Amino acid sequence: MRKKIIAANWKMNMTAAEAASFMEDLELELKNFDGAEVVIVPPFTVLPRLSEIISEIPGVTLGAQNMWHETSGAFTGEISAGMLREFFTRYVVLGHSERRTIFGETDELVNKKVKAALAASLRPILCVGETLEERDAGRVHEVLSRQLKGSLAGLDTDQMLDTVIAYEPVWAIGTGRTATPEQAQEAHAFIRKTIGEIFDPATAAKVRIQYGGSVKPDNAKELLHQPDIDGALVGGASLDPRGFAKIVKAAARS
Ligand code: 13P
Repeated sequence: MRKKIIAANWKMNMTAAEAASFMEDLELELKNFDGAEVVIVPPFTVLPRLSEIISEIPGVTLGAQNMWHETSGAFTGEISAGMLREFFTRYVVLGHSERRTIFGETDELVNKKVKAALAASLRPILCVGETLEERDAGRVHEVLSRQLKGSLAGLDTDQMLDTVIAYEPVWAIGTGRTATPEQAQEAHAFIRKTIGEIFDPATAAKVRIQYGGSVKPDNAKELLHQPDIDGALVGGASLDPRGFAKIVKAAARS
């Protein structure tokens, strides 16, 4: 069975002090809850502080929002997988639509990062998703297929199993306009089918696929109970510990 995975993508928000206070509240809210794996994905500057706090909390792990694929060298402003591992970071979000659109990341670059992350024992959370224009033009499957094939090229099945996919329709990110559970389920089923074609159906059946895009406490349950939705990648609503805890609890089987 695929254990649900709920991740808090804080984007460029939270100081170390704010993060420590958030974790105190979250720990209280989630006491004795083990129905989902929780990943906190803070800015890099918060990783050292959170790595100390999170090592004490069962079921909660740490993720990073990005990395560069080289191990070291003259890459001003970048960070390597090894540097993230120093702070017990377990996951790394790669190919987020904000990285693709604001920073020009391509599937080819994302593929290099996915491979470098896996080589350093970091688990990629690979983001894919179409824009509104692409959806309106009926190109959702074409876009998802291209992103998946490009970003996952050259992985073996074990590496695929260490990778989480996040379906994040660009038009649903930060807009308050979430995909309907039916729209999300349809895209997730297509993603699983495509992974089955790239690898094999048995591998695809084990891969976890998160939904992201305006997930809130009041829409989480319906989304998370779709058969191919195995978790959520939460932006705005993950900044409030009580609201985020509600989303985590919505992952429990009803
Ligand atoms: P919002 O939840 O704010 O729409 O952001 C989603 C997202 O981009 C998570 O990675």
